Amino acid sequence: MNRFYIENASKFDGQTVTVKGWVYGKRSSGKIKFLQMRDGTGIMQGVFVKGECEDASFEEFDKLTQESSLIVTGTLRKEPRSPGGYEMGVKSLKIHQIAEPYPISPKEHGVEFLMEHRHLWVRSSKQHAALRVRWEIIRAIREFFDNQGFVLFDAPILTPSSCEGTSTLFETPYFDGKAFLTQSGQLYGEVGAMAFGKVYVFGPTFRAEKSKTRKHLTEFWMVEPEVAWNDLNDNMELAEKFVEYVVQTVLARRAPELKILERDLAKLEKIRAPFPRIRYDEALKVLEKRGVGVPWGEDFGAPQESALGEEFGGMPVFVHRFPARIKAFYFKKDPEDARYALGCDLIAPDGYGEIIGGGQREESYETLKRAVEEHRLPFDDYQWYLDLRRYGSVPHSGFGLGVERTVAWICGLDHVRETIPFPRMIHTLRP
Ligand code: 4AD
Ligand code: MG
Repeated sequence: MNRFYIENASKFDGQTVTVKGWVYGKRSSGKIKFLQMRDGTGIMQGVFVKGECEDASFEEFDKLTQESSLIVTGTLRKEPRSPGGYEMGVKSLKIHQIAEPYPISPKEHGVEFLMEHRHLWVRSSKQHAALRVRWEIIRAIREFFDNQGFVLFDAPILTPSSCEGTSTLFETPYFDGKAFLTQSGQLYGEVGAMAFGKVYVFGPTFRAEKSKTRKHLTEFWMVEPEVAWNDLNDNMELAEKFVEYVVQTVLARRAPELKILERDLAKLEKIRAPFPRIRYDEALKVLEKRGVGVPWGEDFGAPQESALGEEFGGMPVFVHRFPARIKAFYFKKDPEDARYALGCDLIAPDGYGEIIGGGQREESYETLKRAVEEHRLPFDDYQWYLDLRRYGSVPHSGFGLGVERTVAWICGLDHVRETIPFPRMIHTLRP
């Protein structure tokens, strides 16, 4: 297949090509008619001039409605005022299907309406740009780990047990019993780290989150590296280099899309490792000073996350050593003070909130067994996980980066629902 795509127009200057695509817009002024066509890779203007294009095609133009599908042939020429730098002098137009009146018009629509028409909304330029940035973020994520010898280690989606607490589990019938949709591949990633040294799990994860916020989905994608022999500091170092790589790679490759999204690129250029690191207890003091203090032992919400972003001048910031009692069962306790867990969250600037959660894992069989019991988790379901502590236990650490929150931050979008083709939220299951 040697099909022409609009994004390659510059390689076909002066040549006759065929665009297979859809109507994005049109206007006419008697003897000259302008067609905005899109083919998925870009938008290009086709110019119909009476006498230069086939007479029948010149007439057919008038039938075109928004999003009608078509095949247009003509000659490419430079046009500095057009977005891709080229336009087409049209010779012929073949209509494939005349679209019914298109529900999404250039006028403003409410988000609810757009979400119901998500299957069509993804054609519009802003959504298109955000989803291309998402794709590039995922590509950069894979590149970073692949280039450093991390082995991709897939975790199951149907699981027997919880990773992040039982309150956000989706349960599903499983033959004579039941299963849960995975909240995180971490426990399986730890298996991989003991087998391969360093691995990453990358897949969809599920949380029955009752939270109706701009940061919560019930189904989201998470990448989870896990490394044997890494301690908490190694873990933060890996995380900051990783985030720097993703941001800078996307910036280098997707500046046109980020401009469509009106993202302030200077803010992204600044994102360079190392990132500031503060203990949870220090963070409490900062929050107190900024008027959004919380009592010791409480987690941070949106106001606290925004305040931390401001404090550090637009850099992501690590908060580490949280009170153990607000963290999951698998965290190693700080040997210097067992009230704290060796966990680290990375808080993105400008109120985008926590994009990474992770830390050092408990490696002692006895301590971990006790934690399973204290969290009232069914011991039998964790036996395989505890086995990792019986057969060559080593210190190890890892983290999970939420793809959608990262896309929201890099794109500057104010809600995660626009960062994934089909967002899943409490009241959103269609389309
Ligand atoms: O902090 P979390 O819950 O950490 C874990 O699941 C660990 N087991 C990861 C690990 O150490 N391997 O989730 C990690 C990240 C969060 O920082 C956030 O970016 C994202 O996953 N996340 C969500 N994104 C969208 N909607 C939700 N409901 C999310 N919950 C977590
Ligand atoms: Mg977390």
